[in-house]
Amino acid sequence: MGQSKAMAGVYIACAAAACAAAAVLVSQRVKVRSQKCTARKILLEFQEACDTPVARLRQVVDAMAVEMHAGLVSEGGSKLKMLPTFIDHLPDGNERGLFYAVDLGGTNFRVLRVQLGGLEGRVIKQEYEEVAIPPELMLGTSEELFDFIAKELVSFVAREGEDFRLHAGQGREIGFTFSFPVKQTDINAGSLLQWTKGFKVNDAIGQDVVAALQGCIERRGYKMRIAALVNDTVGTLAGGRYWNNDVMIAVILGTGTNACYVERAESISKWGGELPKSGQMVINMEWGNFWSSHLPRTYVDESLDNESLHPGEYGFEKMISGMYLGDCVRRVLVRMAQQAGIFGPHVPHKLLEPFSLQTPDMSKMHHDNSSDLKMVAEVLKRVYGIQNTTVGIRKIVLSVCDTVCQRGARLAAAGIVGILKKIGRDGSAANGLNRRNNTFEQSDVNGTHDEVPVNCPTGSGKTVVAMDGGLYEHYGEFRNYMQEAVVELLGEASKNVFIELSKDGSGIGAALLAASYAEYVPT
Ligand code: GLC
Repeated sequence: MGQSKAMAGVYIACAAAACAAAAVLVSQRVKVRSQKCTARKILLEFQEACDTPVARLRQVVDAMAVEMHAGLVSEGGSKLKMLPTFIDHLPDGNERGLFYAVDLGGTNFRVLRVQLGGLEGRVIKQEYEEVAIPPELMLGTSEELFDFIAKELVSFVAREGEDFRLHAGQGREIGFTFSFPVKQTDINAGSLLQWTKGFKVNDAIGQDVVAALQGCIERRGYKMRIAALVNDTVGTLAGGRYWNNDVMIAVILGTGTNACYVERAESISKWGGELPKSGQMVINMEWGNFWSSHLPRTYVDESLDNESLHPGEYGFEKMISGMYLGDCVRRVLVRMAQQAGIFGPHVPHKLLEPFSLQTPDMSKMHHDNSSDLKMVAEVLKRVYGIQNTTVGIRKIVLSVCDTVCQRGARLAAAGIVGILKKIGRDGSAANGLNRRNNTFEQSDVNGTHDEVPVNCPTGSGKTVVAMDGGLYEHYGEFRNYMQEAVVELLGEASKNVFIELSKDGSGIGAALLAASYAEYVPT
């Protein structure tokens, strides 16, 4: 009897423990569910705020075309700088000789040499070297930065093989790709207006960047001439045009983002110089600084901008480019971690660190199509030490990546269509291609079209947009969303618009421009 009472006691105790455990489990499940619920709410609100339906994109397209016009009319007429580049003709295949390029502006620094053989030989041989830019140089002094470029360049030239040859009487001429806003005063002179992306070398602002580099090269005892100063977009345009006459626009989607295009010189009312004979000039838009009230701005963009190296500047770039996309995602995850505890009771310390989530990792998570989202779990663990995430939470993280990527890609598409609209190649009803003489006929629908648009050399009616940059090249979802949106916006006219990767075009493009604007004229 005593024994059975004791047994009954044990059963009761066990049952109570089981109940308590079940209660803890239930309460944990309830907690997890409510965390997920709060996180979902945060996600939904963010998705709504980032939404870019076609009607909104059209407003961005129109705003882009209007701002382009305003930026061409007067200095400071728009946040779009619309910088004249002094490039009035692009490479056409006739370039000959040995030329060099140095390329500073993204994550890596590059030096390149290319032996050009004219129309028959084209690119006979090329060689390049790439090094990561030491981060301290991005925030150091101008002397350190330009001397670093000079040092890499002269050591590259010193290691030149016999198969690269200067023609008799040819000096070493360089194309200098400097991917920041520069106010040019000539094809090979111009002062830095401001830094963008991760650079902040204060004493360089206002300096002539060509003279600065030229000085450093000479101090190292070398004689080379910088023949052309080019933005990376301009290099990409030149590289693209070298192979394809229909290339009229170039876009970079990399660490930063920007576009350039061929404009009618007459439309550049702010241009004080003589009009070029070709009647055309390449314009570096610096579209990263584009702004419009139609852009879908969220709390993420506000905090990112406030804490950035250049607050209030380059708002479009901060929504689109590789330097910032990962950080947009991180900022949403921080909110979810703080308000919904999705990563446990404490917010992982590293998650609070700006730029700790880089876009290549965001892209890895976004492309995860395994059923349990292994890659999402792997990245969260590797970057933040976050363990044991549920598939539900991983799905939410992936959706955040998707939202940020989709918004950026669709805005980039609207930017491209804005340019097409400005040059009369968006196929809008009033702008028909007159097949007889291969020029565009159009009316000035809303003051943003030129009366006579720029024509490409072939007059084929096709427009090719040369693209470059790691974001475009490596982030497949971004590329797809962007292309989809271009088609959505252009409809039928998209059949005449070709968006083509022009890989590393900017390096070779700068060397080609050095050839086009060289002192040396091949005989
Ligand atoms: C930044 C620079 C711009 C460059 C772009 C892409 O926006 O200001 O000059 O073209 O990044 O590298």
